[in-house]
Amino acid sequence: MPNKSPRPNPRDDPRWVEARFDRIAPWYNVIEPLFLVPQEARRQAIASLALSTSMNVLSVGCGSGRSLVQLAEIVGTAGCVTGIDLSSRMLQRSRTRLSRARVANVTLCHSDLFRLGQETHYDRIFFEFSLSSFGDPRAAIEKGLALLAPGGKLVILDGRLPPRFHWLTRATMPVIRWLLEQTVLGDPDVDASLELERSGVPSEVKWFRGKTYFVTCLSKEPLPVIALKAPSI
Ligand SMILES: C[S@@+](CC[C@H](N)C(=O)[O-])C[C@H]1O[C@@H](n2cnc3c(N)ncnc32)[C@H](O)[C@@H]1O
Repeated sequence: MPNKSPRPNPRDDPRWVEARFDRIAPWYNVIEPLFLVPQEARRQAIASLALSTSMNVLSVGCGSGRSLVQLAEIVGTAGCVTGIDLSSRMLQRSRTRLSRARVANVTLCHSDLFRLGQETHYDRIFFEFSLSSFGDPRAAIEKGLALLAPGGKLVILDGRLPPRFHWLTRATMPVIRWLLEQTVLGDPDVDASLELERSGVPSEVKWFRGKTYFVTCLSKEPLPVIALKAPSI
């Protein structure tokens, strides 16, 4: 749903986002299951990443690290996974999860995505329910594409308010906005799929649970193969 609210968008301020997720972190694993994310959507997202051993993967807004162990196991010790997040408390949950699973090939980075330097390029980038937490999702997609290695893939798993219930959600928007800001998937004003469409990047979107959850995969062109001509003797 487009942002029609006249108030300034608090998500534009990374300090607001950080404070919000720091506040939510202790409850995150309790609240998150209430959103009934279909397992099929999660499976589809991981399959769309088309991971293989030795890949270098970036999980943007990795939060409590829900998928980090799985990603790390697939890329193996020859590969590596970096989880980046603004919230130190969410990252602390990731750290606990990783040490329980005794996974060593994951690096956690406490930073704003927009502050990440361009010196490393990633084979795969995963936005798992993080795109709609960005004040400017299109800028986040652009940044992600800039960090992607040629031939790489960027996968987005996200959600929005169920379109079937627009009649209800429109009428109760102030309550929904407040509730989601206090809990997890806090951005009823952001429709990440619409932002993706507006970005003009070609992508195929797969929908789940009545067009509420979606998975999409953006690909970056591989470098052209330049045929070198052998010098004639
Ligand atoms: C809804 S949580 C999703 C967490 C996790 N990926 C999951 O699926 O459970 C969104 C996460 O994105 C992070 N985030 C939002 N904006 C960010 C930014 N600009 N840079 C890095 N992380 C950000 C938040 O701190 C939060 O932990």
